[in-house]
Amino acid sequence: MYYIGVDLGTSSVKLLLMESDGTIANIVSEDYPISFPHPGWSEQKPEDWWDAVKKGIKNLIKDVDHSKVAGISFGGQMHGLVVLDENDNVIRPAILWNDGRTQEETDYLNNVIGKEKLSEYCANIAFAGFTAPKILWMKKHEPDLFAKIKKIMLPKDYIAYMLSGIHCTDVSDASGMLLFDVKNKKWSKEMCDICGIKEDMLAQIFESYETVGTLKPEIAKELDLPDSVKIAAGAGDNAAAAVGTGTVGDGMCNISLGTSGTIFISSKDFRVDRFNSIHAFAHADGNFHLMGCMLSAASCKAWFINDILHTDDYKGEESGITDDRLGNNNVFFMPYLMGERSPYNNPNARAAFIGMSMDSTRTDMLQAVMEGISFGIRDSYEVARDLGIEVKRTRICGGGSRGDVSKKMMANILNIDVDVPENEQGPAMGGAMLAAVACGEYATVEEAAEKIVRISQTIHPDPEIAARYEAKYQRYRKLYPLLKEWY
Ligand code: XUL
Repeated sequence: MYYIGVDLGTSSVKLLLMESDGTIANIVSEDYPISFPHPGWSEQKPEDWWDAVKKGIKNLIKDVDHSKVAGISFGGQMHGLVVLDENDNVIRPAILWNDGRTQEETDYLNNVIGKEKLSEYCANIAFAGFTAPKILWMKKHEPDLFAKIKKIMLPKDYIAYMLSGIHCTDVSDASGMLLFDVKNKKWSKEMCDICGIKEDMLAQIFESYETVGTLKPEIAKELDLPDSVKIAAGAGDNAAAAVGTGTVGDGMCNISLGTSGTIFISSKDFRVDRFNSIHAFAHADGNFHLMGCMLSAASCKAWFINDILHTDDYKGEESGITDDRLGNNNVFFMPYLMGERSPYNNPNARAAFIGMSMDSTRTDMLQAVMEGISFGIRDSYEVARDLGIEVKRTRICGGGSRGDVSKKMMANILNIDVDVPENEQGPAMGGAMLAAVACGEYATVEEAAEKIVRISQTIHPDPEIAARYEAKYQRYRKLYPLLKEWY
């Protein structure tokens, strides 16, 4: 049988077709636009996602027997606010995970309602990109549109709804709304009251590997698929990426470098960072995880190479970053192109190059950008270490980890082994695996991970490079406190 994994990303949707044993039969992607209507805001049209998903599915399956497609599931960009009216029409463009417009609402939630209360209700505090502050923003700034809201959804759940007609969500993605009691896996009545919404506006909650329904007959016809195709709830993209790299069960770590950068630590037990600087969310395997999220990771590299250097020759630009240069660069880059989430929670932070001299080259600056991404991940890694969590090795995935240099930097800046899975399709692979579990191909997500995921290579830190990077990181971490006032 075939299983489709849909990774509803920020720049495009990636779709993966997986055979029963985990073999990848096809991968396609479709782009869609993103708009930044004001500095720090970021929006997309759910209708664009839906058109791209339909086009993508048709392309994905064009060379296989359609009757063998058994299930579809998702990894989706998290936290986005999708609002539907009484006819299930989209009311306004979705406000995305990296949108920083809600400083006032975030401050209200953290300082007036209070972090202790939020943590008690939801195991998390408010971050500008989370869904609840966006609901408060709409209530204040768009009261007419707010009054029309009948359903509040997350991005991938809108696609699941369009495919199946079911208003559903899963525990991992729901965790990032600040409306979900993560520990008890149910909606928080208190948070609904604080946001002025009714609980029935929120979707029905499923575990990520559960079936929510089947394809609607008219959609099945349009896609030329059997209407028995099961739709599984799926997961937020980071939990799906973790499934795709086999980061399930207890004490495993995955680093995902997409538009955002995340460090994800799986845990059998529910646990919370005492300062709530990293997120305590449910995992797609039925357990929990802790996660730090930097808002701009691979997007920093794309910005520097495409928009500033005006090229798309990533390999050529990176070829100058030889091993002897690792840890020896005097230029630093702070990767806050869209503000920063973990651990600083500051939507107003901005990116900076520091330390250039007359002899600084474009390679030094690119190297600094790439190092800034790993330093940003290390900031969240330090929070986990402060909690007493010992991470001995990590897996890695996502476009931003492509190429040897990025992986070597990560291994040496974190000073841990980096295991590289055979394929880098984190969320799309995880989505397909969740569909396979929902269809009974594997009994559990852990079993699917064990049977499907293989590690192709391990990068070990080099003691000399790691020591140089340790000194660099200690200088780097002093920069944010110095610049904080200026932001
Ligand atoms: C996680 C987060 C991002 C998005 C990116 O909290 O906001 O990783 O999910 O798609």
